[in-house]
Amino acid sequence: MSGEEYAELRKFVAPEFVFGAGAAMLAGQYAANLSTKKALVVSCRDLEAIGCTGQIVDSLTREGVTCTVFTDVTPNPRHEEVMAGAEVYRREGCDSIVAVGGGSPMDCAKAIGIVCTNDRHVLEFEGVDNVERPGPPLICIPTTAGTAADISQFCIINDTNRKVKIAIVSKTMVPDVALIDPRLTLTMGPQLTAHTGLDALTHAVEAFTSNASSAITDLNAMEAMRLIRLHLRNAVERPDDLEARTGMMLASTYAGLAFSNAILGAVHAMAHSLGGLLDLPHGLCNAILLDHVIAYNYDSEPEKYRRLGIALGADIPEEASREEAKERTLEAVRTLKRSVGVTNSLCELGMTEEDLPLLARNALSDACMLTNPKQPTADELIQIFKASC
Ligand SMILES: [Fe+2]
Repeated sequence: MSGEEYAELRKFVAPEFVFGAGAAMLAGQYAANLSTKKALVVSCRDLEAIGCTGQIVDSLTREGVTCTVFTDVTPNPRHEEVMAGAEVYRREGCDSIVAVGGGSPMDCAKAIGIVCTNDRHVLEFEGVDNVERPGPPLICIPTTAGTAADISQFCIINDTNRKVKIAIVSKTMVPDVALIDPRLTLTMGPQLTAHTGLDALTHAVEAFTSNASSAITDLNAMEAMRLIRLHLRNAVERPDDLEARTGMMLASTYAGLAFSNAILGAVHAMAHSLGGLLDLPHGLCNAILLDHVIAYNYDSEPEKYRRLGIALGADIPEEASREEAKERTLEAVRTLKRSVGVTNSLCELGMTEEDLPLLARNALSDACMLTNPKQPTADELIQIFKASC
């Protein structure tokens, strides 16, 4: 890559984070450093049931922090859940938030924070840089390796009135501290591991080919892809393999640093549209769409797609034609998907022909579409949805 290609001004935002086995147990210490007296712990029922949330509450309590636990959060967190959480935060007199979970509790926690400090409805923050005041101190403790909401500027909330997912993108959405502990991912089942891991892969691929990418985001995206190729299958097949879990958590963090700053592309715009209208799982939607969107985008950034194909294990000789390089890149992505058991189609998940015009329209107006390397028409998106069926 020439220096000239990277000459444009780019900023890079990241929170303070602690990475490694045992990081989650620093929750109490970090909350105390942030002068927390009473924390709203935002989590989900499954994590509470297996004792994961309780461990964090214990760490907080040991440092003299009183906790109120809020677990009324579903996958694809809804605007009503955010407003209910904000009500609990105010009623209980909390002064900080600790999020424990995957993307849903973390996004819900971020949204609760800005609702409370700005005293506005969560749906009023939609878009880029629409948050006036940052939320209260926020510590994020991820329990999946994929979303990277713990380090990103993104917060995605389901507007259930309009059946669309809104994106709130702002530097104020970056948590104060992320405690990234691979041990917390050991309890994820194979399917969740595969779906969240392929979400991380999609973050890396979309950040790498985004029209807002930079030298620094490229470096992070590349390393994320290399690690996912190396560790995802092992993490799926051997859930208690801490080396694979650590590799995937590191990959998720690198991919998060990349996409938080380079933003995403058509895969996420389309997955948000599916999540809003049909309430489908985010990681799985991305995984199904990924190779179809790469096939559509390929010619706009052939050199970058060739490089990412190689990072994912494709054998692409120097003299390979563009068409050959494209096929080998697509095959590398499909092989990775198959190796972790993702063989579904969107129609199997419930998407129908009648949904397509609205899905395409909502995807076109998603903030992530702006940084896709190529601007599709509604008809082209409908063709990609159909190819994924
Ligand atoms: Fe994602």
